Amino acid sequence: MPNTFVYGDEVLLCELGKERTYLIVLEQGGKLHSSRGLVEHDRVAGSVPGSELMSHLGTPFLALRPRLDERMFKVRRRTQIVYPKDAGWLVMALDLAPGRRVIEMGTGSGAFTILLSQFVGPQGRVYTFDRREDFLENALSNVARAGFSDRVQGRVLSAGEPFPVRDADAAFLDLPEPWLAIPAARRALEPGSPLALIVPTAEQLKEAVRVLQEECFVRLEMVEILERRMLVRQTAGVRPAERMVGFTGYLVAGRSTPPYSVGGP
Ligand SMILES: C[S@@+](CC[C@H](N)C(=O)[O-])C[C@H]1O[C@@H](n2cnc3c(N)ncnc32)[C@H](O)[C@@H]1O
Repeated sequence: MPNTFVYGDEVLLCELGKERTYLIVLEQGGKLHSSRGLVEHDRVAGSVPGSELMSHLGTPFLALRPRLDERMFKVRRRTQIVYPKDAGWLVMALDLAPGRRVIEMGTGSGAFTILLSQFVGPQGRVYTFDRREDFLENALSNVARAGFSDRVQGRVLSAGEPFPVRDADAAFLDLPEPWLAIPAARRALEPGSPLALIVPTAEQLKEAVRVLQEECFVRLEMVEILERRMLVRQTAGVRPAERMVGFTGYLVAGRSTPPYSVGGP
């Protein structure tokens, strides 16, 4: 199959020499209206990823297939989303792989749901929950746009209510009071399975860890990920960029134990 863009594909159009990017889904007759001119979808269709295309004002755009982090960043946002630097660590912490059945509480804008969906694949399932129906609706439309509706089930649920799932392979919590969902997550997880969460303050981190210990989660890890971008200039020197995303959250990972707790019968 030739590696060319076809209608229905997601395409990342990057303004050459600038940071600005646009994520489009190719439609027959569709048009991208950018501040640098109009790009017709019909001109993108049939081109090879990596090609350069001109807007009607003569601005060059690069057409690429979007990476997972770019797809996450381009969701219609109603909430804060998980940042790529944290997402990478969480993939390991949750041991994501094809076929896994994963619980997510705090669907938010669905950015992390898209990541989970890509990793679990068509044979896996993502059961995602949020107490806000409007957020859930928006998130599920972001998931649909990413082409993952086949593996995602979303439902309105408040932290503390039992998850309507049994023997899940992993659970991820992204909500202000994740500790409310920890006992139910333990009951819904296959014993020994990973749970991970993200919280924005040290007080929330402390309370989350207290409840994880109370619920007999083991092998707890608490981290903050720092990422520094580098400037690599052939004549002006190589050094870190002046600006960085200073803080995005504290990450926690652990493993569930059977209901009779560690060292039980
Ligand atoms: C920061 S957002 C999650 C963002 C998401 N991980 C993403 O990448 O798009 C937190 C979400 O938790 C939900 N939430 C807050 N408290 C909740 C609770 N007690 N029960 C269920 N959901 C809750 C909010 O409605 C919000 O959508």
